[in-house]
Amino acid sequence: MRAMLCRAYGPVDDLAMGELPSPALAPGEVRLRVAACGVNFPDVLIVQGKYQFKPEPPFAPGGEVSGTVVEVGAAVEGFRVGDAVIATTLWGGFAEEVVTTADRLLHRPESMDEVTAAGFALTYGTSYHALVQRAALAPGETVLVLGAAGGVGVAAIQIAKALGARVIAAAGSADKLAFARAQGADETVNYTEDGYRDRLKELTGGRGVDVVYDPVGGDLLDPSLRSMAWNGRYLVVGFASGEIPRIPANLTLLKGCSVVGVFWGQFRRNEPELDAENFRRLFALHAEGRISPVISATFPLERAREALAVLSGRAAKGKVVLTV
Ligand SMILES: NC(=O)c1ccc[n+]([C@@H]2O[C@H](COP(=O)([O-])OP(=O)(O)OC[C@H]3O[C@@H](n4cnc5c(N)ncnc54)[C@H](OP(=O)(O)O)[C@@H]3O)[C@@H](O)[C@H]2O)c1
Repeated sequence: MRAMLCRAYGPVDDLAMGELPSPALAPGEVRLRVAACGVNFPDVLIVQGKYQFKPEPPFAPGGEVSGTVVEVGAAVEGFRVGDAVIATTLWGGFAEEVVTTADRLLHRPESMDEVTAAGFALTYGTSYHALVQRAALAPGETVLVLGAAGGVGVAAIQIAKALGARVIAAAGSADKLAFARAQGADETVNYTEDGYRDRLKELTGGRGVDVVYDPVGGDLLDPSLRSMAWNGRYLVVGFASGEIPRIPANLTLLKGCSVVGVFWGQFRRNEPELDAENFRRLFALHAEGRISPVISATFPLERAREALAVLSGRAAKGKVVLTV
C-alpha cells in the first residue's frame, strides 16, 4: 500500500511517499481502507521523535482516520466488512490502508461525512474528557481557552458552550480571535499583546476564570494561572509552543486552585466505557448541530508535508484533513 513515510526522525519536509507491506491480521484486528485522515499537532511531534510514542521508522504518521472496514480478523465483535468507521490509530493513518485493533474503532455516525469524521475523534474526545471528567465544568462557569483557533481549541469552545459555560477565547492574532468568536466564544483576548491579565480581570469583573484549557504551555501558563478564580481548575492539555512550563506551586496555594493533567489516549485505554459514553454524547451533540468540526483546509495524501507545515507554522484554523 502507498503511504506517506517517515524514514528517520527529523523535519516534516523529509517525509516522502513510499510503499508499506500490507500485514496479515492478528486476532482482534481489522483492516480499513482509509478515506481521510485528520492532521494533529502530535503528528508533527511524532515525525520529529518528540512525542510520547516513538514508532520504529519507516512508519506513516497519522493518528485518526475515517474509512471502511475491508477485512475483519478473528475474535472481532461489533464490526463487519463494509462498516463506515472512525479509528484513532496513534500513527499509520497517512496511508491507503490501516490495520488496527477493534477497540480503536467507532462507528461513523450518519450525521458525519468522511472528511468531517476524520477531524473529529481526537480533538473532541480530548476536549470533552478535559472539560467533563477533568474539570467537572458546571453551567455558568467561565472557561478560558488558549490556542482557541486550533484543533483542540475550537472543540473546547464548542463543547464548553454546549455545556452552558461562558467562553473567553485567547489566541495570537485578530484573525484567529474572529475565527474563535465565530465558533461561539463570548469574549476574546489576544495573549501576544500587553494587558492580557488586565483584560481577563475586566472580562470576569475581577473574579478570574473558573477553568483554563491550555494546549499551548510556555510563557502563557504564568499569567493565565494568575488569572484564575478561587476553586479554579487549570487543564494541562499540551505544549504547542514547544516549551513545557514550570508551575509556581505558591500560586496554586494562593488561588486555591487545582492543576489537572489531561491525557485522552491513556484515559481511553484506562476507562474505555466512560470514553464510549463520552462519544455517545458527542455524536448526539453533533447530530443536534451543537458541535461541528471546522475543516479549514484539505490536502491530498501526497501533500501531507504541506498540511503538517500549516500546523507547525502556527497557521492552522480549526482542522486540517488529508484525503486519500
Ligand atoms: N492531552 C491530550 O490528550 C492531547 C490530545 C490532543 C492534542 N494535544 C496537544 O494539544 C496541542 C494542540 O494540538 P492541536 O492539534 O490543536 O494543534 P493546532 O491546531 O496546531 O493548535 C495549536 C495552537 O497553539 C498555538 N501555538 C502557540 N505557539 C505555537 C507554536 N510555536 N507552534 C504552533 N502552534 C502554536 C497556536 O495558536 P496561536 O497562534 O493563536 O497562539 C495554535 O492554534 C498539542 O500540543 C498537542 O500535542 C493533547
